Amino acid sequence: MCGIIGFTGKLDAKEVLLEGLKTLEYRGYDSAGIAFVTDGGIKTIKRKGKVDNLYNTVKEESNDVTTCGIGHTRWATHGGVSDINSHPHTAGKVTLIHNGIIENYQELQAELETKGKKPISQTDTEIAAMVINDLYDGNPINTIKKADEVLHGAYGFCIMFEDFPGEIYCIRNGSPLVAGICDDGAVIASDVVALIKYTKDYFVLPEHQIAKLTPDKITVMDLDGNELCPEMLHVSWDIAAARKGGYDYFMLKEIHEQPEALRNTILPRVKNGMPDFTTDGISDDLFTDCNRIIIAGCGTAMHAGLVGKNMIEKLIRVPVSVEIASEFRYADPIVDEKTLLITISQSGETADTLAALRLAKEKGAKTLSIVNVKGSSIARESDYVLYTHAGPEIAVASTKAYTVQLACIYLTAFRMAIAKKCISDAEVKELVACLMKTIEDVEKILKYDKQIETIAHMLDKAEDLFFIGRGLDYALSCEGSIKLKEISYIHSEAYAAGELKHGTISLITDNVPCIALATQEHVYAKMISNVQEVRSRGAGVILITNAGVTVDAALCDHQIILPKMDDRFAPFGAAVVLQYIAYYAAVSRGLNVDQPRNLAKSVTVE
Ligand code: AGP
Repeated sequence: MCGIIGFTGKLDAKEVLLEGLKTLEYRGYDSAGIAFVTDGGIKTIKRKGKVDNLYNTVKEESNDVTTCGIGHTRWATHGGVSDINSHPHTAGKVTLIHNGIIENYQELQAELETKGKKPISQTDTEIAAMVINDLYDGNPINTIKKADEVLHGAYGFCIMFEDFPGEIYCIRNGSPLVAGICDDGAVIASDVVALIKYTKDYFVLPEHQIAKLTPDKITVMDLDGNELCPEMLHVSWDIAAARKGGYDYFMLKEIHEQPEALRNTILPRVKNGMPDFTTDGISDDLFTDCNRIIIAGCGTAMHAGLVGKNMIEKLIRVPVSVEIASEFRYADPIVDEKTLLITISQSGETADTLAALRLAKEKGAKTLSIVNVKGSSIARESDYVLYTHAGPEIAVASTKAYTVQLACIYLTAFRMAIAKKCISDAEVKELVACLMKTIEDVEKILKYDKQIETIAHMLDKAEDLFFIGRGLDYALSCEGSIKLKEISYIHSEAYAAGELKHGTISLITDNVPCIALATQEHVYAKMISNVQEVRSRGAGVILITNAGVTVDAALCDHQIILPKMDDRFAPFGAAVVLQYIAYYAAVSRGLNVDQPRNLAKSVTVE
């Protein structure tokens, strides 16, 4: 998830770009760069490190006066963190910046190399620049139309053509681009936070349409150059809320970023409807030889493992154990060269998870990590890495990182099933299609916010509450409980619903809230019985179900109904509901949602 900005007008473009990148820095901050028009052509200055580092470099290296340019702050996906991999990238007459992932960049690179054209960086973005330059016929619109047919994946591009100084051409597919015009010029960015200094009236560039920015206007066209009128929007919040994109907290922003994060994580690993780890450099050999799988992590990351265990064991019938990393590392675990250890970590720096990884490697295990931060310790020390592409997660409570971890562990399960010949291509394609559908399901559930905000008030006076579920719903109960506890400070416990009668149900008395998950078809009837048991003892019940079930109104105070989902994928939807419940419970108590007491975003100590 990168930050991009373009400007052309009357102002000092370098100042506009650098200031814009500063407001966009939360979207990615491992390197940054700008390119701008000078009398001698397009000049690029880019550096590894934060925007401040770039700012100082620009001050040192450029006295140019310029009124047109593009800027980028990077969250590395393809290619390590380095000056040469940072954006903008130039190929011939084309200079561009990019937010997203080009899925077919390797095939495109191979084609270019047959023409003797080799990239100098390790990025998919440079390949895109080379492709566009290769297609360039002197007409930017025609060129972009042809490129849009060739480039596959998620992208938001800002492109400058050397022959057209003062003009910026933009197109997107999946990755966000918003633009607006003011008396001083035209501005476009990946997030409205970078526009509001200049205008609060903006539009979202529709996908596969081209925005042409000139100093006094923005023209939106279809790929044939026919002018279009995008819907204009208005920003209602002030600049102080800017970095949060108008949201009150990063956590809410990151909850809403989940469709983009899921798209950026899943799409590059699906080729012709099949799971594909080629880009990740992970071969099926990693899976064929293992006869035991251990998933280790902490907190929410470990909870993602609980969900992954269910899918992996269903598909390949190999035992999977999910370990709390801080326990695993001192348990003298049974691990050998036939063991595959999967570590899950958003930060890639959690001390206990890193220690678990090192211990398993010492004992001969092969290791795969699912990590969000490129080049982090756990990523570097694993044999293989499956990066999630959620972009930086600022709020302490993990939300988008969790759902993309689920996506990665599911893709791993699918790949394992192919490697071990446990499944037909048709069955895999059906699973992949269900995984892709979770993106639209999450988008639908994001619209439940007002309903859930109202329901969450049921917890205003709660001191203790229970999350109950069976199977995958128990795994989700664990995640819902930690989310609620860590930001609202309400004590809660996650309980396997069938276990309640073995002691805990003695705690269920009048109005004790129970958040019951009943999305799993094969245990639905049993789960409803458990809900009746707590209801009959006076519990206040919030019931989360899949679509298509009829529930007796007396059974619960509130029912939250997911869109119709294959229940193996219901965790993606239920997770968003649980995130909302925790968020609104904490907001209702006036707490600092992003920085809850006693906690840190990454626990790099034991
Ligand atoms: C989750 O909301 C918490 N912030 C915490 O449990 C977190 O998941 C855990 O500390 C693991 O962090 P990691 O994913 O960076 O390893």
